[in-house]
Amino acid sequence: MRVAMNYRHIYHAGNFADIAKHVGLLYCLGALKRKDTAFFALDSHAGRGFYDLQAAEANKSGEAERGIQRLIEAGMGKAVLADYFTAIRARRGKRLARYPGSPALIAGSLRPQDRALFVELMPAEARASMREIESMGRVRTEIGDGYAVKKSLKEMVHFDFHNLKTEYLPPRNDVIFCRNVMIYFDKPTQSKILSKFVPLMKSNGLLFAGHSENFLYVSDALKLRGKTVYELGQPAMRRSGK
Ligand SMILES: C[S@@+](CC[C@H](N)C(=O)[O-])C[C@H]1O[C@@H](n2cnc3c(N)ncnc32)[C@H](O)[C@@H]1O
Repeated sequence: MRVAMNYRHIYHAGNFADIAKHVGLLYCLGALKRKDTAFFALDSHAGRGFYDLQAAEANKSGEAERGIQRLIEAGMGKAVLADYFTAIRARRGKRLARYPGSPALIAGSLRPQDRALFVELMPAEARASMREIESMGRVRTEIGDGYAVKKSLKEMVHFDFHNLKTEYLPPRNDVIFCRNVMIYFDKPTQSKILSKFVPLMKSNGLLFAGHSENFLYVSDALKLRGKTVYELGQPAMRRSGK
């Protein structure tokens, strides 16, 4: 199930977190440019090119006011922020009208040999990046999910729903994720389900439980591998789990 996202960065652009992130970003880009070798920058959650700090949304949150506008007053002239202030085009005594997002900062830092790709889930934001940034060259914007699982890995994974109490479960599992489920069952039911899991695990299989679940009191067929991960406990079981 995909949950609709309700986030617009215009409310937060130029806040303290954006500033910290962008100062770090420029530092990293500067470090990459110490060598002539080309680099490729991938911005997986790109947002748009520039944010209008006079827009109603920005004023409503007041985050830029308490963030970048305040920093320009207090920090102008500080050597450590000089590159950042140059990149965002801040001027002493002037309020900043447009705050550059990471695509604008990256695009402004590229040399002829460098390239960048911006991926943004929200079409309106991505289109703004295309409009405002792509003319700077060497960059491309894609509308889509910044996280993608490789097809070859997807094909190895079988996703399904099961009723633990009544159903036959698939055999020979590398991993069973059963997090924060058993906690709702009484001990006899937990024990029954665990004894169902054990023969279904491969000899080196793992069972992932939730942080507040502890199966050691219910079954000696499993032992703790670390934190909330269990493996088969006894050699006999490990063999039969093959
Ligand atoms: C914090 S904002 C943008 C910040 C931007 N990188 C910057 O530093 O100026 C995060 C952006 O990620 C986008 N986003 C959220 N989930 C995403 C996903 N799965 N793939 C791509 N973009 C996503 C949101 O729409 C939002 O525009």
